[in-house]
Amino acid sequence: MSIKYEVNVPVTSDQFIELLRESTLGERRPIDDRDCMEGMVKNSNLMVTAWNDGKLIGIARSMTDFHYACYLSDLAVHREYQKKGIGKRLQIITQGELGPKCKLILVAAPAANSYYEHLGFKNNPRCWVLDREQNIGS
Ligand SMILES: CC(C)(COP(=O)(O)OP(=O)(O)OC[C@H]1O[C@@H](n2cnc3c(N)ncnc32)[C@H](O)[C@@H]1OP(=O)(O)O)[C@@H](O)C(=O)NCCC(=O)NCCS
Repeated sequence: MSIKYEVNVPVTSDQFIELLRESTLGERRPIDDRDCMEGMVKNSNLMVTAWNDGKLIGIARSMTDFHYACYLSDLAVHREYQKKGIGKRLQIITQGELGPKCKLILVAAPAANSYYEHLGFKNNPRCWVLDREQNIGS
């Protein structure tokens, strides 16, 4: 199996949605909201992808200033390719694109909580998320 890794090559919304479905991360992302999915792909500024024979099989999708903070929004590997080091490689390549002081920040899916600890991430109990759909107007 020869996996090719790319930085910021075009990814279509359909490829992204299909990968999220096939990785199971689709259960936690708005894959039926076309506008949102298109906006996610179009407006991220650091996308590291893994390909097998032209098929998208992994992604690390981030928004970053490259110097201080990088929000890793989606890390997903197609279920047939999981546990082969692809997820780890995607986030190592992501780190390689960032300045030395730039922190990686993410919210882990429940099933991946221990995965990040394994990769050297530290849990931060002061991380806060505002769900604006539930808070608009309050
Ligand atoms: C989580 C995910 C991205 C990991 O990618 P992967 O390619 O399967 O993982 P890797 O092969 O790079 O794993 C690297 C190491 O972490 C371990 N690991 C993998 N998945 C793990 C998990 N869910 N929990 C704990 N450890 C895990 C591996 O055993 C491996 O250990 P090693 O370095 O000692 O051999 C992938 O399994 C996935 O897409 N899961 C579904 C979507 C998801 O939950 N994404 C995260 C959203 S925050």
